[in-house]
Amino acid sequence: MKILVIGGGGREHTLAWKLAQSPQAEKIYAIPGNPGMAKIAECENGISIEDNEAVVAFAKEKGVELVVVGPEVPLTNGLVDAMNGAGIRAFGPTRAAAELEGSKSFAKDIMQRYGIPTAKYRVFTDAASARDYVQAEGAPIVIKADGLAAGKGVVVAQTVDEALTAVNNIMEGQSFGAAGARVVIEECMFGEEASLLAFTDGETIVPMVSSQDHKRAYDGDKGPNTGGMGTYAPAPVMTKELVQEATEKILRPIIAAMKKEGRPYKGCLYAGLMITEAGPKVVEFNARFGDPETQVVLPLLKSDLLEIMLACCDGRLAEQDIQWSDGAAVCVVMASDGYPGGYPKGLPIKGVEQAEAGGALVFHAGTAERDGRLVTAGGRVLGVVARAADIRSAVDDAYAAVGCIHFHGAQYRHDIAHRALERL
Ligand code: AMP
Ligand code: GLY
Repeated sequence: MKILVIGGGGREHTLAWKLAQSPQAEKIYAIPGNPGMAKIAECENGISIEDNEAVVAFAKEKGVELVVVGPEVPLTNGLVDAMNGAGIRAFGPTRAAAELEGSKSFAKDIMQRYGIPTAKYRVFTDAASARDYVQAEGAPIVIKADGLAAGKGVVVAQTVDEALTAVNNIMEGQSFGAAGARVVIEECMFGEEASLLAFTDGETIVPMVSSQDHKRAYDGDKGPNTGGMGTYAPAPVMTKELVQEATEKILRPIIAAMKKEGRPYKGCLYAGLMITEAGPKVVEFNARFGDPETQVVLPLLKSDLLEIMLACCDGRLAEQDIQWSDGAAVCVVMASDGYPGGYPKGLPIKGVEQAEAGGALVFHAGTAERDGRLVTAGGRVLGVVARAADIRSAVDDAYAAVGCIHFHGAQYRHDIAHRALERL
């Protein structure tokens, strides 16, 4: 079977790597892909992933039978609808179902109506009323731009002043455009966060192994928010009982609700959870695999990912027996100097082969090839992943592999999985 992966980051490299292991995978294409993916896939970077018509034409021309959509933008842009319209299977939610990520107010409203645990909230389209609400509620309080903001539209304000500034910036500044015309203001939840990704065919939902991301740039969870500086799986905070509780109180009800609302949700559902004293509550839903969660979750999947994805598309997930390995995986993201602010590009990267020879998986994100040499080309450059029998060994192996890789100014966190290690 010919498969097309949409996207070119670490998540998509991991998806392509896992799909390539299926005996049914005949050929993999990627738009745009990256130099790491180019070893297992034919990469096409002359087509925009936001141009549904061009992507459908490419899939038809190549005889693609399954399209796997990585990032949120093509999902909220209706790429899955366009593929289905052309008679091509696509793994991921339709535009209507991807609203669960595309609009925070939609997600909050549906959770409220169906009794799914999440923070108390209000939605505002008018800045003066939003400011009044902040004054009345006090701090800490959380201010969120409604639309997609590439993970930058959330402010956890510790003081009323900070919250008012956030309301003004999001609603009256220009930084978020249409995404900031509406804000969600919600109660601040306390606890440890975990990511629970799940496969779903719109009826059945099966959680994957849990994981935990590290969103702040620097050690000790300090510094600015990033796309994610590292992950580990499974997350010990998500005990078997908590996974069960989250499945019963969150995953199953949201899938039933989406179906009832006429927006059946298929694909990967990402539940960002806060484990509060009152149990797991939803911080956010994403309509896609997490990045860099995927880099640690899929290496622990023993079953055939292609078969699972086809079963999700065809409504046969209940028949699948999905197996996970007992071990642990750790991903350390190596980023460019200055990320998440401005950073240089085009710096040579050395040592990837040595890291791989030692058993690590090196997933590319912001890399490019120039004159046959691998160079940096983005903020998050590589995801260096180790699998081992337990978290402690996976951490040691991942950092040993990071030690093999060099580019000028490489920046990474030294404390990935600290929460898991503290629990041991
Ligand atoms: P989001 O983009 O919704 O995942 O928010 C980004 C980050 O902000 C989350 O990973 C949390 O760390 C934090 N956050 C969001 N909502 C809340 C909340 N209601 N209470 C506490 N922290 C939150
Ligand atoms: N790792 C966070 C995300 O994928 O949204």
